[in-house]
Amino acid sequence: MSDSQSIDFEAYRKFEQKGWSEVASGYSSYHAAITAQAADALLDAVSVGPGMDILDVACGPGAIAAAAAARGAKAIGVDFAESMIAEAKRRYPDIEFKADDAESLSFDDSTFDAVVCNFAMLHIAEPDKAIAEAFRVLRPGGRYAFTTWQTPDKVQYLSVVTGAVMAHGNLDVDVPAAPPPFRFSDPEEAKRTLTSCGFAAVTTGEVTCYAKNTVDELIESLYSGTVRSKAIAEAQTPRRVRKFMQLLRRTRSHSPRMAS
Ligand SMILES: C[S@@+](CC[C@H](N)C(=O)[O-])C[C@H]1O[C@@H](n2cnc3c(N)ncnc32)[C@H](O)[C@@H]1O
Repeated sequence: MSDSQSIDFEAYRKFEQKGWSEVASGYSSYHAAITAQAADALLDAVSVGPGMDILDVACGPGAIAAAAAARGAKAIGVDFAESMIAEAKRRYPDIEFKADDAESLSFDDSTFDAVVCNFAMLHIAEPDKAIAEAFRVLRPGGRYAFTTWQTPDKVQYLSVVTGAVMAHGNLDVDVPAAPPPFRFSDPEEAKRTLTSCGFAAVTTGEVTCYAKNTVDELIESLYSGTVRSKAIAEAQTPRRVRKFMQLLRRTRSHSPRMAS
């Protein structure tokens, strides 16, 4: 986490885009089943129903667009990682997916009835731009919803991994400075930002997701399905890795079911 003046947004954007392009398959195998559990809450928040035009921003492997299509909506998913788009098309061949940047969408003004964004806001270099873009492509009266993680102290799935890495890892590694990942975990900050981008009647709520992964899957998912955490883990010495793995195994064996 860095203050915004020390962030090279372009470097961060490139790092994330390259990183997500390399882990589409691993992300789909592990994390996507967890994030997809928010689909109904997210789609309910914008009242998705038959015939509506829906945009799923930073769609990853496409589960949210697919859930919207299953409700009879005309859904399009966009992501800036080409391999995520390929993965989404492979999983859901009947749905339209295309490469696009959340911060500068290629759609005309007033194109969609609703825009959704699932667990991606914390990976977007300048999320205020993504929110402003969502507002621009919405029709008058359109609705917008996004999900984000609560802070790690409230999310075991995050805290067991970050706790182990922070306890034994060297965090001074060569990765671009990131915008604060838990900025929108604060409902007041989320409301303030959405309101300043033009949205009215902003509400927030909580969704519980469960991770039922074994400890080995959790470790595998760290290396094959994340970007920043993977880069930090790969920069560690074998001794540090052994130590944080040991701690992860000990902690995880005491928390078989984790709420997010
Ligand atoms: C944690 S994944 C979430 C994927 C999916 N929404 C889900 O529910 O599982 C974050 C996604 O955000 C995408 N992403 C990050 N910044 C983006 C941007 N500026 N424009 C489009 N996609 C972006 C990444 O490529 C990645 O697929």
